[in-house]
Amino acid sequence: MNQNSQKNYWNKLAPTKEFTTNLDFNLLRSLSKDAKIVDYGCGYGRILNQLYKAGYHNLTGFDFSEAMIQRGKNEFPHLKLKIIEENHTKCDPYSVDMVILFALLTCVVEDKAQQKIMSEIHRILKPGGRVYINDFLLNTDERNKLRYKRFEKQYGTYGVFELSDGGLLRHHHENYLKHLMDGFTQEYFKKTVFTTMNGHQSNGFAMVAKKES
Ligand SMILES: C[S@@+](CC[C@H](N)C(=O)[O-])C[C@H]1O[C@@H](n2cnc3c(N)ncnc32)[C@H](O)[C@@H]1O
Repeated sequence: MNQNSQKNYWNKLAPTKEFTTNLDFNLLRSLSKDAKIVDYGCGYGRILNQLYKAGYHNLTGFDFSEAMIQRGKNEFPHLKLKIIEENHTKCDPYSVDMVILFALLTCVVEDKAQQKIMSEIHRILKPGGRVYINDFLLNTDERNKLRYKRFEKQYGTYGVFELSDGGLLRHHHENYLKHLMDGFTQEYFKKTVFTTMNGHQSNGFAMVAKKES
């Protein structure tokens, strides 16, 4: 998979696109306002800004799209937003209380590439630290089933599809997520329906998982 072409795609969307999956503050549980929170694939920083407004101040966002980071810096100059290369946050091991991973897995379509990101998250979390993920699940409507089938051969995974504007995305089988979460104990999982960045309805989930020490 060519990561550069996907980076170009997200750069192209950066000036105007609005992201949609929501932060449920209840899922932060008793996270202290001093907690170190990393948003991996932070886009233009909308979720970090919600956290900032709620009083969290030890916040860092990472995204591979330079244009997303630039938009975030313009809109939210008080946030610490950084470009990430090669999936490496450069955070110290065992230094982060919570990682937010919102609508990021959907953009990373290969199992191996997703596993690399989860390893980096595992590396930087403190023992007992948590990852809060939301993302998209497989749908059963005809529009989605057709595109899953159309691209399954090419990409080797049912649920991966191309968008006409050049995007490459993935909707996930629920069982697959269990494998991805190796090294974590799932504490919360709830299915939901999200409105996507393109205005469609899609199955999705929110999950909180704790790093196993
Ligand atoms: C759908 S957007 C969601 C952004 C943000 N999490 C939110 O909810 O507002 C996905 C973001 O992930 C970024 N992204 C995609 N693949 C990435 C990768 N391999 N590493 C880092 N960022 C990535 C894109 O540039 C984009 O900003």
